[in-house]
Amino acid sequence: MAGPEATRRAAELRAVLTDHNYRYHVLAAPIVADAEYDALVRELIALEEKYPELVRPDSPTQQVGSRTSDVFAPIRHVERLMSLDNADSLEALESWQARLARVLGREPDGYMCEMKIDGLAVSLTYQSGVLVQGATRGDGTVGEDITANVRAIDQIPRALGPGAPVVLEVRGEIYMPLSAFAELNRRQAELGEKPYVNPRNTAAGSVRQKDPTKTGERQLSIWIYQLGHVEGAPVFARHSEAMQWLGELGLPINPDSKRVDGIDAVEAYVQDALDRRHDRDYEIDGVVVKADVLAEQAAAGFTAKSPRWAIAYKLPPEEKTTILRDILVNVGRTGAVTPYAALDPVFVGGVTVTSATLHNEGELQRKDLRIGDTVVVRRAGDVIPEVVAPILDRRPPGAEVWHMPARCPFCDYPIVLAEGEAKARCTGGFACPSQLREYLFHFASRGAMDIEGLGYKTVDALLANGLIEDPAGIFTLEPDGLLELEGWGEVSVNNLLAAIEGAKDRPLARLLTALGIRMVGGTVAQTLARHFGSLEAILAATPEQLEEIDGIGPEISRSVAEWIGEEDNRRLVDRLAAAGVRLADAEPEERAATLAGLSVVITGTLQDFSRDTAKAAVVDRGGKVTGAVSGKTSALIAGEGGGSKLATAESRGVPVLNEDDFKLLLAAGPEAVGISTPSD
Ligand code: IVH
Repeated sequence: MAGPEATRRAAELRAVLTDHNYRYHVLAAPIVADAEYDALVRELIALEEKYPELVRPDSPTQQVGSRTSDVFAPIRHVERLMSLDNADSLEALESWQARLARVLGREPDGYMCEMKIDGLAVSLTYQSGVLVQGATRGDGTVGEDITANVRAIDQIPRALGPGAPVVLEVRGEIYMPLSAFAELNRRQAELGEKPYVNPRNTAAGSVRQKDPTKTGERQLSIWIYQLGHVEGAPVFARHSEAMQWLGELGLPINPDSKRVDGIDAVEAYVQDALDRRHDRDYEIDGVVVKADVLAEQAAAGFTAKSPRWAIAYKLPPEEKTTILRDILVNVGRTGAVTPYAALDPVFVGGVTVTSATLHNEGELQRKDLRIGDTVVVRRAGDVIPEVVAPILDRRPPGAEVWHMPARCPFCDYPIVLAEGEAKARCTGGFACPSQLREYLFHFASRGAMDIEGLGYKTVDALLANGLIEDPAGIFTLEPDGLLELEGWGEVSVNNLLAAIEGAKDRPLARLLTALGIRMVGGTVAQTLARHFGSLEAILAATPEQLEEIDGIGPEISRSVAEWIGEEDNRRLVDRLAAAGVRLADAEPEERAATLAGLSVVITGTLQDFSRDTAKAAVVDRGGKVTGAVSGKTSALIAGEGGGSKLATAESRGVPVLNEDDFKLLLAAGPEAVGISTPSD
């Protein structure tokens, strides 16, 4: 039996992997390296194998990919698009081969070795030789209709040559050639725009454009690697023969694919792929090996997720060497000082890397990195680049150990490292131009005060021209000063001022988020706003009062208390108030008294309230919600299906209110429903 720890870990892994899948497949913006992702999958598989009762139908191990996004119409694939199992070492490749040989009763009669293209999997359908449908893989069962977009890609034939069958569905990988990617970024640079991060994400983004002409402009390519659903096609004995036939029909087939005999030849192909990783005009993230004989494929069959007759050998993350020119620091909005490496440009893992974070001084010293070192730089998939280690043999004489500067390079205030903390901090506050820049950007961002037009570019212009000295300064900007900024005219100035004016009236929760108190994100900000109703009340709160609030733990309350205690913050609040920013929500104050002193318990399902909104409605009016019925309970609010609590309430003589009574209680107070507070 799985213990509580295994059960909890499995649930956690399911949630984490579902999120990673969503980021990878839907947002095309993964946040972990493939190797890390695979390790999590392996951990979950191991748990599920050990404790089969932990397997859930919605487990990522039971699915291919993840849910689709809803911008494009869904398309159900006629045959499921499977995923591949991974091998991350030659040993794993060999054990795949041994397993396959065991299932077949002999070694497969030849393998097809193919490059694993790092792009976007698609399915293309031709009817009597005419391209009628393009679809993304999606979750393997349902993808998205991208027909108009694939028709705009020159490399994808809209019509096939003679001999095309009635129905031909093929699978392949759309990718952006490295030459096209470099050209695209050259143009971006010319336009003064930000470069695209890597070819894979750019290809995925290009295919999912709403306007297909944009897709067409991106010079995308495709390699077809698999036959899907066919009707009226010749019968082939081998995958390699089917691929050759597709090539003859006019579909792009990768000339780097190779049919080989025996596992040694497979390993030689893998080695060659590794050695010549950079010689191709497309990125690969591995090698796919398939049993070539189709009858053997049929005999080997599938697991829930992938074919037994194929495997993806994953290439290890790419590493390159370059020179560590300098170690500089960033200063963030809370003053955190983060060292980073300034590197000689190096193309690694599909992007040109010129800098990499070094996290903190401790990490830097662990790795013993020194300015002038030749260093190994690694970049795995889509993940941020990392300086792995110095090459000590090539260390220039006299290279010195790096230390955190004593003073901030932006403001010259002291940098301090508090006891027990990994991060050093600049003590400049708003006097530090870097802190102020980051703070202003955060303050105006969408999740905070949401001031449209106040991004980095504008913030930089305001700071460079001395128009602003702290966040309150946003609200006292004058048209005259703004009109002097380069490239600004009356329209842009008026738009910005209107956006700023609108931001004076934001709900308290947004203002709290904008203030950047550590550990106070959107949800905590809402809890605080609901509880206190005004910034003034928050400033007057004691740490004990903060900690009593549902949803505020000791760490958050300590952080808020610290913030409250700082003179600079109080001054900022005063300045915001003076600039006309609203510091209180109107409603809670009006409502506050009606349920004061009342303590209720909520049970069962209410029609018009979730548990949270019901609770908030009581709390907003000064009442308290507890989890269990006791002698102090003023009333039990019982929705559908309230069980044992109902019985307890009845046995203790606690009044029970249904949903209608509850609404009346909220609208008209306790007397209206005939209850009183225990102290009455
Ligand atoms: S064959 C049943 N061949 O890798 C076999 N896949 O996890 C299905 N890929 O979704 C896939 N290059 O996006 C195959 N030469 C290749 C491939 C390839 C890239 C991708 C494809 C698939 C994923 C498998």
